[in-house]
Amino acid sequence: MNAYVNPLAGGDAVFAPFDTSSVIVDYIRRTTFDHPTLVVHRDTVARQYRALKAGLGRADIHYAVKANPTREIIELLIAEGSHFDAASRGEIELCLGLGAHPAHISFGNTVKRASDIAFAHGAGITLFAADCDMELEKIATHAPGAEVYIRLLVGATGADWPLSRKFGCAPEMAGDLMGRARELGLKPVGLSFHVGSQTRRAEMWRETLDQVAGVWAEARATGFDLDMINIGGGFPAFYGEEIEAPQAYAAQVMAMVEPRFPGATRVMAEPGRGMVAEAGMIAAEVLLVSRKSEDDICRWVYLDIGKFSGLAETMDEAIRYQFLTEREHEATGPCILAGPSCDSADVLYEKRPVAMPLGLQSGDRIIIRNCGAYTSSYSSVGFNGFPPLEVVVI
Ligand SMILES: Cc1ncc(COP(=O)(O)O)c(C=O)c1O
Repeated sequence: MNAYVNPLAGGDAVFAPFDTSSVIVDYIRRTTFDHPTLVVHRDTVARQYRALKAGLGRADIHYAVKANPTREIIELLIAEGSHFDAASRGEIELCLGLGAHPAHISFGNTVKRASDIAFAHGAGITLFAADCDMELEKIATHAPGAEVYIRLLVGATGADWPLSRKFGCAPEMAGDLMGRARELGLKPVGLSFHVGSQTRRAEMWRETLDQVAGVWAEARATGFDLDMINIGGGFPAFYGEEIEAPQAYAAQVMAMVEPRFPGATRVMAEPGRGMVAEAGMIAAEVLLVSRKSEDDICRWVYLDIGKFSGLAETMDEAIRYQFLTEREHEATGPCILAGPSCDSADVLYEKRPVAMPLGLQSGDRIIIRNCGAYTSSYSSVGFNGFPPLEVVVI
């Protein structure tokens, strides 16, 4: 069972550059699952952390908990020395409960519940993100005197999963917001941005870094003594298209960061996907194979997992997962892949069909590769009565 059905390459076998996947595949083959299950391999998370850290050098890694909040992952990362980027009280409580130091947790969501800010402040968290006046006012009220960094809106970089519109302020607003933070008794210490998730090549950061460096220079020239740059996430995972190895990628990014942010004694990076995606595979099952008409070119393959049970990142077919079947020697044909729910939006890949073995049957095991990030944390609770994605850590 080792043929990767690569949706991008029409069924050609593709192998990851750092393939420890056989441990997970072996485990899945030996195990019976009642429901779709994400199997996460601890050692791969540790390996990714160490590789990213080696490349990032003096930067502190704040793991983006949202990518995969499984307890064992957080525990392992605490032991490795990681810090954490939290999006909510729930994530903060998770990290604190497992022993993370409050000084190692940043509250990076720019849209925070006031009571969550108060909770974080009470728990000893001192670093908060903001991108507008109202958020600064909330922070000043509920976490007086806190350090804040201003999140900037940056141009699209070509990331596969862009985050460019919802968060951040226009670069020209940053100075006013820092001034406002000061008036409110907060400490404006730095800037943050996100190049977009799954930015496949380090070189794609350059333009964004230039843009942010301009804001940095202007802020410092106008009297803001900034000392912290938060470079966010964007570190890629292997989904079939070539990516650079994590250490080399991170080192290239840092080589571009260093000359651009003079005075930045603190550099933060917030990898999510790059930390955990390659550490997980989903054991799933084919529920049905059908054709809509006699002369249909594509078969419809319905899996027991879909957009609402973990594969939300197939939205717009942005993230192209790889599938592994037990029919490695069979010829393949194009398939439209869909989830099990009674919702017509629950189609995974249709614009670019996936080559699947011709003999695929109901009950066949499917392994979905490199999906340790943004799957379990996206899965709905009980939509159509399906349980949320189970997680097993090995
Ligand atoms: C503030 C923040 N930091 C980091 C991340 C992680 O990004 P990635 O998974 O691309 O590393 C995200 C993802 O949404 C984010 O919102």
